[in-house]
Amino acid sequence: MNDTVSQQIVYLNGSYLPMSESQISTQDRGFLFGDGVYEVIPVYQRKLFRFDAHLERLKNSLKATSISNPLTDSEWQKMLETLIEKHNWQDQFVYLQVTRGVQMTRDHMPAECLTPTIYAYTNPLKPVSDTIIENGIKVITLDDIRWLRCDIKAITLLPNVMMKLAAKSQDADDAILITREGTISEGTASNTFMVKDGNLITPPNSHEILPGITRMVLESIANEHNIPMIEKDITLDDLNSADEIWLSSSTKEALPITKLNGQTVGNGKPGELWLQMREYYQQHKQKFIESH
Ligand code: PDD
Repeated sequence: MNDTVSQQIVYLNGSYLPMSESQISTQDRGFLFGDGVYEVIPVYQRKLFRFDAHLERLKNSLKATSISNPLTDSEWQKMLETLIEKHNWQDQFVYLQVTRGVQMTRDHMPAECLTPTIYAYTNPLKPVSDTIIENGIKVITLDDIRWLRCDIKAITLLPNVMMKLAAKSQDADDAILITREGTISEGTASNTFMVKDGNLITPPNSHEILPGITRMVLESIANEHNIPMIEKDITLDDLNSADEIWLSSSTKEALPITKLNGQTVGNGKPGELWLQMREYYQQHKQKFIESH
């Protein structure tokens, strides 16, 4: 059992080994081309949350990129559960990545019959800080400079990193991205929601956003509690008049935004619906833990 990040065990191509001993080839197409896909799955009380949905999305990413799926569903599950068991943290988030594999000669065209590289590791999942719960976060809007297949969870994250840095340089915690058509897509590593007159509104799934699992969970909680949930395009004008704005992701659940481009959102504090949703989300997790 390992409880410090520096001693953690990782999974690499069939073996569990200390992170410090894990090595991949410099010819791995993931390293050279960003040619691979990934998943991030939250673990509550040592149990994989919404594993089936994450696995389904992984399979969609692999299929869309023509990378062969190296493991069966039960092998994926067993591997991740074994990794979780090797660490003491009750709540974790596991990262898994599949690249197309190692190719000795440079060629954008993948060689046939490459063996995918499989890598996975886990980190402690920390609750969102009290400061954020009390004050929310600051975001700016930026042009979405990414490609047109953001529904694929690709490891190629350079635009996301650049936009995150741009947000930081403007003293913001994150950015909400605006597509070429002028609608909101999502955050740099999250989906976007707004609240207007009691309605929860989020952009529909498309090639321009990742079909977030947390987004799906929020949608099902909203349905369960009769919170009207609408999927429709959101413009910057809509955001500017929103009562609340949230970001959602597996590692952060739903986060309240209280400043947008320097302007106060709502009354400048995390909104009422967010507070309510936060409570429902914790109840949902608790039910999941008790039933698994
Ligand atoms: N990112 N959109 C993007 C671009 C993301 O990178 C993520 C998650 C989401 C939310 O998806 P989910 O609810 O399934 O986590 C939306 C993960 C956490 C990451 O890259 O670390």
